[in-house]
Amino acid sequence: MELAPRPVWQLLLLFLGLSTGAVLNWPEEQGKEVWDYVTVRTDAHMFWWLYYATNPCKNFTELPLVMWLQGGPGGSSTGFGNFEEIGPLDSDLKPRRTTWLQSASLLFVDNPVGTGFSYVNKSNAYAKDLATVASDMMVLLKTFFDGHKEFQTIPFYIFSESYGGKMAAGIALELYKAIQQGTIQCNFAGVALGDSWISPVDSVLSWGPYLYSMSLLDDQGLAEVSQVAEQVLDAINKGLYREATDLWGKAEMVVEQNTDGVNFYNILTKSSPMSAVESSLEFTESHLVRLFQRHVRHLQQNALSQLMNGPIRKKLKIIPEDCTWGGQANNVFVNMEGDFMKPVISIVDELLEAGINVTIYNGQLDLIVDTMGQEAWVRKLKWAELPKFNQLRWKPLYSDPESLETSAFVKSYKNLAFYWILRAGHMVPSDQGDMTLKMMRLVTQQEEGGPGWRV
Ligand SMILES: *[C@@H]1O[C@H](CO)[C@@H](O)[C@H](O)[C@H]1NC(C)=O
Ligand SMILES: *[C@@H]1O[C@H](CO)[C@@H](O)[C@H](O)[C@H]1NC(C)=O
Ligand SMILES: *[C@@H]1O[C@H](CO)[C@@H](O)[C@H](O)[C@H]1NC(C)=O
Repeated sequence: MELAPRPVWQLLLLFLGLSTGAVLNWPEEQGKEVWDYVTVRTDAHMFWWLYYATNPCKNFTELPLVMWLQGGPGGSSTGFGNFEEIGPLDSDLKPRRTTWLQSASLLFVDNPVGTGFSYVNKSNAYAKDLATVASDMMVLLKTFFDGHKEFQTIPFYIFSESYGGKMAAGIALELYKAIQQGTIQCNFAGVALGDSWISPVDSVLSWGPYLYSMSLLDDQGLAEVSQVAEQVLDAINKGLYREATDLWGKAEMVVEQNTDGVNFYNILTKSSPMSAVESSLEFTESHLVRLFQRHVRHLQQNALSQLMNGPIRKKLKIIPEDCTWGGQANNVFVNMEGDFMKPVISIVDELLEAGINVTIYNGQLDLIVDTMGQEAWVRKLKWAELPKFNQLRWKPLYSDPESLETSAFVKSYKNLAFYWILRAGHMVPSDQGDMTLKMMRLVTQQEEGGPGWRV
């Protein structure tokens, strides 16, 4: 379904009195937006929302198309990524100064099915592994590009966050194959993995040393965190992925107890009171629910949920009455339990071998997917050019050219680039909007010094 933008006064009439508190005013300037559902399998319906780039000097046809994938699994791109990170409006429906829409058209997809406004009709229709997540997305992308031929030749990039990075890797590889086979018409130009869950055990193993170096663990705490991290490693080495997911949850509790409740998403920001309460609970059978609460619920806090289930669903018009934004997210997470801790380093190797441009970016203050852990799995790549990449020196980046404050470092060789984003936690665009927008422009070849940069 496609809807032309409506006059602002009409939207105001629609929403007056319907918001749950603050009065929401839609900004005057709105570009073209379209959205729809695609049935990707029997009983599995995926929701997407496209914004055409709004640049005062450039037609959207001169700018790339970026698909954004949220984490969780179960976090909503159309909600969290859109309104909290990179979309044209923030969650108060105020224009976002650092929106990526000024430099790209944006495609938000609620995946896996059951996430955000996506839904399943039968409980056996949830995705249980990355292969299903990727094949579902191929159905969506084929439908999208067949129906929007104007985007078939525009450079298409996938950007992602957290578990979305793991999905992005799997999806990128399937998309590459589909293009080779001629089943999807698309100018695929690269994938960017943000604070991505590529090798979970490398994250867990680096939690101790990272926290210790940041004065967030004492000697005893370091020993305890390292001990439980070894248990996670052991389970993964034995291929016991469900058990590894349990132990991962246990490792988080050990971290919380030893750090006075550090915030896993930004170690310099105190976490919400919720997790302090939870850390005092015993580790119980309901650990998956608890993990969900910690890692997905924060992506759909009350205010965002009220926005999505209030004014936004009214605007979209096509959301089934009995479908609640975020209502099935818990099931999405639980169904992926067996896949959660599986590494996909070999998929990144396949992407690199295939010549696909791969960008890795990570927030300096992220704990859940800390930068040390990312560097650890990058060292495990079998890619033949890796030694040359490793020999390179990094280069500083400044989001404000007038400022002496370093915003990031970047290193790039052939089709691999790594961005170290300073003063950012897990949600890099929320914490460092200017630098992340600049990075997106570098990755998509809109600024000098991007992946093509050499020492
Ligand atoms: C932008 O490009 C499209 C497709 O080529 C064209 O139809 C449209 O008129 C252009 N818009 C402007 C404002 O130039
Ligand atoms: C599928 O689920 C949606 C959302 O809950 C609902 O509106 C629709 O009626 C269901 N369809 C069938 C065939 O059960
Ligand atoms: C991929 O990266 C290479 C090397 O950095 C660069 O020259 C090329 O333009 C990039 N391609 C795209 C489509 O971004």
